[in-house]
Amino acid sequence: MFEHQDTLTSLDENTSLSEKLTYIHAALNERFPFIARISVAIYDAKTDLLKTFIQSSSGADPLKQYQARLSEAGSLQEILRLRRPRVVNDLDLFASGTAEHTRRIAEEGYRASYTMPMYNHGQFFGFLFFNSSAVDAFSEEVLRQIDPFGHLISLTVIHELASLRTLLATVQTAHDIANVRDSETGAHLERMSRYARLIARKLADQYELSDEYIENIFVFSPLHDIGKIGIPDEVLLKPGALESEEWEIMKTHPVKGREIIDRMLGNFNLNGVRSIDILRNIAELHHETFDGKGYPYGRSAAAIPLESRIVAVADIFDALVSRRPYKQAWSNDEAFAMLQKLAGDKLDQDCVRVLLESREELETIQRQFNEDSLG
Ligand code: C2E
Ligand code: SIN
Ligand code: SIN
Ligand code: FE
Ligand code: FE
Repeated sequence: MFEHQDTLTSLDENTSLSEKLTYIHAALNERFPFIARISVAIYDAKTDLLKTFIQSSSGADPLKQYQARLSEAGSLQEILRLRRPRVVNDLDLFASGTAEHTRRIAEEGYRASYTMPMYNHGQFFGFLFFNSSAVDAFSEEVLRQIDPFGHLISLTVIHELASLRTLLATVQTAHDIANVRDSETGAHLERMSRYARLIARKLADQYELSDEYIENIFVFSPLHDIGKIGIPDEVLLKPGALESEEWEIMKTHPVKGREIIDRMLGNFNLNGVRSIDILRNIAELHHETFDGKGYPYGRSAAAIPLESRIVAVADIFDALVSRRPYKQAWSNDEAFAMLQKLAGDKLDQDCVRVLLESREELETIQRQFNEDSLG
């Protein structure tokens, strides 16, 4: 008998994609300690943008919140044209070129890189980068051994993204079928999810938020009010103020949202997808407040997850400046003053501060997704 230790056993656990990448990196480092960084960038064909999605490295992340147009990244396009990975064994030589990502990578002290294109059913969806601190690290023999790890990472990412897509499509469909008669329009959801992403980005350094987390906030925040599906029309669409009984019904929407999400996760066997916790927290806890007087639980500040705090600020700001059946639209100045008043007591001060500091970006989003009708 001998005891076999499976170094990749942690992949079976319920962990985020970032953590899974870290495990694979650690396993690879046992054999190749010079591989200092692994990162995955996802390509969005609609916008032609390539964005860093997850990364694992011991040092600082040189490409945090990095994005570039693929059409402007000649060396990466070349990889796609040839449908072959690319080895650069002396980034110094390469850094004389124009690509900003290569320059940033070289500045961080990495000296060699191996870039694999990732395909799903033959369709390109991103790049996988291995970086080494040693020049000439990626020999033919090393590459032969790294390649299977590359494909493992690629499949892990595909699996996670496919699960998320299924989940979002399902929730969206339920929302459409229930024909939510809400005054919350698509434009409200477009705006508030972008405010939420803006807040998360601005907090990224202070809170050490990963690109994966920030993207999850963006993707999940439009579902914060999915529980309103279960609120009857007389209450949801009432033109005036709510009576106390009606208000009690309205206040059940966060828990209803959580139940809907859990039911779908069960039906689609997606409970193991770790980022789902972020979705749950957004739906269930976006009306909790710092003073513990929010609903549904009256949680104290420390017990409210960051994603719920971020969405609360984004949602309230947009609700204030929008017209609703029960209220007129406020001006940005009025809404800012209200957020300032709520900061600390009700809302997270950091979230409010970074939103107020980003007025220009915020107004760009408003112009992009404005509407004349109810919002
Ligand atoms: P909602 O319309 O999406 O509003 C989200 C949140 O924005 C509200 O959460 C509140 O924190 C903030 N908000 C919106 N309008 C105002 C406002 O005029 N003044 C202030 N101070 N804050 C505002 P809240 O209060 O927990 O309400 C949750 C949901 O309940 C609202 O979502 C809306 O669907 C419904 N609701 C709230 N008040 C009324 C009302 O007076 N009449 C009706 N028909 N529905 C209401
Ligand atoms: C990266 O490692 O993220 C990009 C650098 C390269 O072109 O290899
Ligand atoms: C949507 O309809 O786009 C999102 C669902 C929601 O707001 O509840
Ligand atoms: Fe809500
Ligand atoms: Fe909302």
